[in-house]
Amino acid sequence: MTIRDAIEADLPAIVRIYNATVPTRMVTAELEPTTVEARLSWFREHSPEQYPFWVAESGDRVIGWLDFKKFLPRCAYRGTAEISVYVDEEFRRRGVGQRLLEHAIARAPSLGITALIGLIFGHNEPSLKLFERFGFERWAFLPGVAQLDGMERDLIVMGRHCPARSTAGAKSLVQSQTNKRVSDSLSLMHTLMQYRHESIHSQLLKIRDKYSMLHLDVLILIYHFAKIGSGDILEIGAFVGGATIAAAFGVRDSGRNKKLITIEPGGSVKHKRLGTRNILRDLERNLARQRVTEMVTIIKGRSFDAATIRAVHDTLGPDKIGLLILDADAAKRRDIECYRDKFSDDCWMVIDDYYGTDSNEKITPSRTDVDALVAAGSLEPLGFYGWSTWVGRWRRRDAGDQLV
Ligand SMILES: C[S@@+](CC[C@H](N)C(=O)[O-])C[C@H]1O[C@@H](n2cnc3c(N)ncnc32)[C@H](O)[C@@H]1O
Repeated sequence: MTIRDAIEADLPAIVRIYNATVPTRMVTAELEPTTVEARLSWFREHSPEQYPFWVAESGDRVIGWLDFKKFLPRCAYRGTAEISVYVDEEFRRRGVGQRLLEHAIARAPSLGITALIGLIFGHNEPSLKLFERFGFERWAFLPGVAQLDGMERDLIVMGRHCPARSTAGAKSLVQSQTNKRVSDSLSLMHTLMQYRHESIHSQLLKIRDKYSMLHLDVLILIYHFAKIGSGDILEIGAFVGGATIAAAFGVRDSGRNKKLITIEPGGSVKHKRLGTRNILRDLERNLARQRVTEMVTIIKGRSFDAATIRAVHDTLGPDKIGLLILDADAAKRRDIECYRDKFSDDCWMVIDDYYGTDSNEKITPSRTDVDALVAAGSLEPLGFYGWSTWVGRWRRRDAGDQLV
């Protein structure tokens, strides 16, 4: 599933999804189905920079949508937006509404939005629960304000600040989560220091010098996660195999059977130390030299191609990914979206290109993507290592999606 800005050609699908909810009397206060023509001016009031309109798409089909609109016209309310989420009947309970909501919370700060509001009927329990799962609280109760088929219905204003503000109860939960995160981060730094006194340190130093653009500390952490983690390993952007070999050594030393999958489209690279005319040829040669060929499945292609995604799923089978090494191009969020359904709870994440100078065009978009996922609570940061690498964990939310 992908989320993108809606275009006018999507309007028939948007209206179809909307109209399907009218007879349920659960979602909209509209009592009759609407038409594309009637909705055109409403659609055109949106803009990607201020009040976006997004569609969720699967294959070529629009399966859900979310829009932002002004909460109230006065300037002082500029930072508050109302959102509406609609999901195609056939695609409910598959996380579509959840993904759209998550995206809205993550993107709100960059749109200048500091609070989100959802207007939900009091009897629409599934939608109320979904919003609550994403930190929305009941900010207002408007009793009997809607007349639906002769019945008075209540309206609830669900709201949350972006980023979230903590109430007293939430504060202590946030505090204990922060304490745990600080202790996990410190323990990771301590682990790294311990490895500096082990033979793997000098082994990986040689691997780094010969085959890797990453910092030695990052290779050591990749080795560590591959060794201690449960689940398989997915690497996106192998290049000539530095990080792949570090992960393979970790799998070898774990004494367990873990699949190590790496995606690399190949090509040539000019680089003072690691230049190559044929990435894939050198990758295969380097894995063979380090005797890890048998442990690694190379998928030759780009991370986001349908054939690559299929090949990764086929190789994993029912297994989950316990470590993701993301060091391809700048589109970190795109790659995470492609494989997130296979991440284990607490999947370790090593994401490069988080920090650097503006001259490296990968840095700004990569950092924006990572920061947005951290803001949405999907990624938990545990440290910043080497030249430019973000290290942390995936945080799974409740998988169930409800009627919205
Ligand atoms: C910075 S290098 C990876 C360096 C490697 N991690 C190391 O240890 O040296 C990035 C690699 O990602 C590959 N790449 C770029 N876009 C990709 C994509 N969409 N999917 C998979 N690999 C990609 C490039 O071909 C390149 O080999």
